[in-house]
Amino acid sequence: MQDLKAKYLSAIANAADESALEDVRLAALGKKGEISALMATLGKMEADQRKVTGAALNLLKDEIDAALRAKKAALGDAALDERLRSEWLDVTLPARPRRMGTIHPVSQVMEELTAIFADMGFAVAEGPQVESDWYNFDALNIPPEHPARQEHDTFFMHRAPDDTRPPHVLRTHTSPVQIRAMTEQGAPIRVIAPGRVYRMDMDQTHTPMFHQVEGLAIDRNISMANLKWCLEEFCRAFFEVPSVELRFRASHFPFTEPSAEVDIRCSWEGGQLKIGQGDKWMEILGSGMVHPKVLTAAGVDPTQWQGFAFGMGIDRIAMLKYGIPDLRAFFESDLRWLRHYGFAALDMPDLAGGLSG
Ligand code: PHE
Repeated sequence: MQDLKAKYLSAIANAADESALEDVRLAALGKKGEISALMATLGKMEADQRKVTGAALNLLKDEIDAALRAKKAALGDAALDERLRSEWLDVTLPARPRRMGTIHPVSQVMEELTAIFADMGFAVAEGPQVESDWYNFDALNIPPEHPARQEHDTFFMHRAPDDTRPPHVLRTHTSPVQIRAMTEQGAPIRVIAPGRVYRMDMDQTHTPMFHQVEGLAIDRNISMANLKWCLEEFCRAFFEVPSVELRFRASHFPFTEPSAEVDIRCSWEGGQLKIGQGDKWMEILGSGMVHPKVLTAAGVDPTQWQGFAFGMGIDRIAMLKYGIPDLRAFFESDLRWLRHYGFAALDMPDLAGGLSG
């Protein structure tokens, strides 16, 4: 009996897990176990011997049973400890934004410029991409014979011959939003209108669809000087440099008078585009004082109100700021390009926290 006790207590101590322990229990105390078999021999014993042996066997059985329970509890604790150790998770670690994809440079730049102009008191306005030719041209003082109307520039919407609705186009600029915003809100007004525009054009710096942001500020005595300050202030904030060099060139737009195109100093070296240095100039926007006829078309009295407007190429300034050489790649949806030039999804640009992280 001492041998049996030693044998089973050591088997119990050595059991590595709950199933090994169960095997020991079956071998000792199971229906066909060793101790049960000995119990079964009691019936054939003399009364005296049965009494002594029975008591000893019961004691042995209780000892083994207690050892099994204790070991089972210990193994359970160990299993729980192991689970707690292996399933431990640090919920204070930052999320992994990579897994969520990236923000396209155009979206990033739209957020950045919205933050800058919002700080100067401009609200965001919107208009449709399929636009009537009245909003896209007539209301902006672009007469029917103007070259911008000719088909090599403009995408016209298909119309059945018996369709009597006014002709529609894919808007060729964001300027029609000037008309819509003034018609809806009147003066004074200060809005920007970022969005998609369309022209038949395709090379390293032109795609048939691209993005502009329109700016419009109308009040009692807004001047060309206000326009210049706004644009210089914008460029400094946007490019995150102490100063940028802008060149205002006298120009012509039917909807502004006087008009100016603005170029920014840059360089193209080894296929890399950089701002602030070099001997090249890149045109980034058209601007001017809103033409009285445009104010009139939008229901604003030109004897009471005046102001400036500008239209800036969003893709252009994105290329310049982030050194992206080819505009066409913007719209190819190449995942490698998006991972390289994209922005972390959780970093929203704001002036206080830093525009581009
Ligand atoms: N709409 C002009 C263009 O697309 C830009 C512009 C906007 C010029 C506002 C002057 C005023 O080229």
